[in-house]
Amino acid sequence: MTRTRTDRITWADLPGAVRDQIQDRTGRVRGSRPAGGDRSDITATLDTETGPVFIKGAREGIFARSLRHEARVTPHVAGIAPGLLWQVQTDGWTVLGLEHIAGRHADYSPGSPDLDLLRAAVLQFQDVPLPAHVTQGVERHYGGLDALAGDSLLHTDLHPDNVLITPGRAYIIDWAWACKGAAWAEPAMLAFRLMAAGHDIASAEAWGRSFPTWQDGEPLTAFIHANADSWRQAARRDPQPWKLRAADLARQWAAHHE
Ligand SMILES: Nc1ncnc2c1ncn2[C@@H]1O[C@H](COP(=O)(O)OP(=O)(O)O)[C@@H](O)[C@H]1O
Ligand SMILES: [Mg+2]
Repeated sequence: MTRTRTDRITWADLPGAVRDQIQDRTGRVRGSRPAGGDRSDITATLDTETGPVFIKGAREGIFARSLRHEARVTPHVAGIAPGLLWQVQTDGWTVLGLEHIAGRHADYSPGSPDLDLLRAAVLQFQDVPLPAHVTQGVERHYGGLDALAGDSLLHTDLHPDNVLITPGRAYIIDWAWACKGAAWAEPAMLAFRLMAAGHDIASAEAWGRSFPTWQDGEPLTAFIHANADSWRQAARRDPQPWKLRAADLARQWAAHHE
């Protein structure tokens, strides 16, 4: 379920005023390497006078607002997420500067050692008190399912490209879509990500069950069916191959819980 936008811009394409404000904070930018991602208009690692810095930015609009949301969540998940270094808002752009992590994307496939590191990182943020500004409920992505309502901090978008692996630990990045909800929703959503990475249903659920917040029973079954509905609608609206595949997996999971 990897999605990389192809219409991103590079460091050189950013307006001069934006580059100036960034260089006021980092010192001269000597080079840049574009990164992937699925929502920002620019993601890149900058090689600066003061060392490497990761930037993600967007023109004003829904993604810029989500970046400002991410900037407000990040201090609450210090040590789990890369640190926020600065934030620039100028010329219609919002750009975040983040601690650069020399890592690789996580591998969620069966037997991957990354899954233990992922569990440790998720367990850590399951204990973080809900930041006051995180007011949107995860249930809005699942047809308003009441069972998902709650007051825990949820990342909600833990696909493998939003997890960076370094020796011995996983960093959770991209908090742009952090929501509140029932704590068991995160391992339930992750179990589905594991299925997308090749786990069978039993193995994905067994992994999810290793979280103390996991809940079997009616609420989980309701989630599994809401997940299938939401992917079916997403694939109908925009039938890209990865969405069709996710919709099919979600349907199989729901069929298993008829
Ligand atoms: N702090 C970081 N250090 C190094 N690379 C990063 C960092 N944050 C993100 N990346 C890389 O950039 C990609 C996109 O970042 P992400 O925050 O997920 O942006 P988007 O919201 O556009 O998906 C990630 O998948 C990862 O490869
Ligand atoms: Mg991302």
